Amino acid sequence: MTDRSSPRSGFTHRLAVPTDEAEIAALMDAAIGELQKGFLSPEQIAVSRAIMGLDRTLIADGTYFLIHDTETGRLAASGGWSRRATLYGGDHSMAQRNDALLRPDTDAARIRAMYTHPDFIRRGLGRRVLALCETAARAEGFTRLEMGATLAGVPLYEACGYSVIEPTIGAEMNGVAVPVIRMGKALI
Ligand SMILES: CC(C)(COP(=O)(O)OP(=O)(O)OC[C@H]1O[C@@H](n2cnc3c(N)ncnc32)[C@H](O)[C@@H]1OP(=O)(O)O)[C@@H](O)C(=O)NCCC(=O)NCCS
Repeated sequence: MTDRSSPRSGFTHRLAVPTDEAEIAALMDAAIGELQKGFLSPEQIAVSRAIMGLDRTLIADGTYFLIHDTETGRLAASGGWSRRATLYGGDHSMAQRNDALLRPDTDAARIRAMYTHPDFIRRGLGRRVLALCETAARAEGFTRLEMGATLAGVPLYEACGYSVIEPTIGAEMNGVAVPVIRMGKALI
């Protein structure tokens, strides 16, 4: 069991590389299974699992961050941003995918695939990943960020200054719909 009282400074961040994929997939699985429970029904979580997941394009683009616990070396959180049009989803969510490059002068960059391991929640790691993404997107000239937020993600994004643009249905399978909230923020 992780000691949640340990200092927030005991974490390091770096960009993900392809050899991190298995560890990232395990983190996503734990986060989706445990942390969406208060927000979605078991049937909705199953649909959510089907549409979320690893997006190797983020890793290849060098825009996916990992945060490790320095004491144990465990992967504690992950998340990234994108200069491509896809709003959410993993490698396999073909219907939502659009790899077209966005224009910093007219388009909003994306926040993508935010996950914190259940052992490390509420220690500011989601907030830290968002800050890393915002700094990197700003450095490439973007002035806005948007994401397709899960209901579990909304409290974090609101706490970090994002507001709702449009609620949509992210996916529907066998009559089970999972909401996705389009949210955004101006980078100033
Ligand atoms: C969303 C998620 C990444 C948040 O990660 P986290 O590392 O716990 O977030 P932080 O500790 O940085 O939270 C920062 C602030 O966001 C808000 N917040 C985060 N999670 C919250 C929750 N479950 N309920 C209420 N507020 C929450 C709080 O204001 C929090 O500050 P506080 O802890 O000082 O009150 C994590 O819950 C998760 O992985 N969820 C499942 C996967 C998912 O749906 N991801 C979003 C994809 S769009």
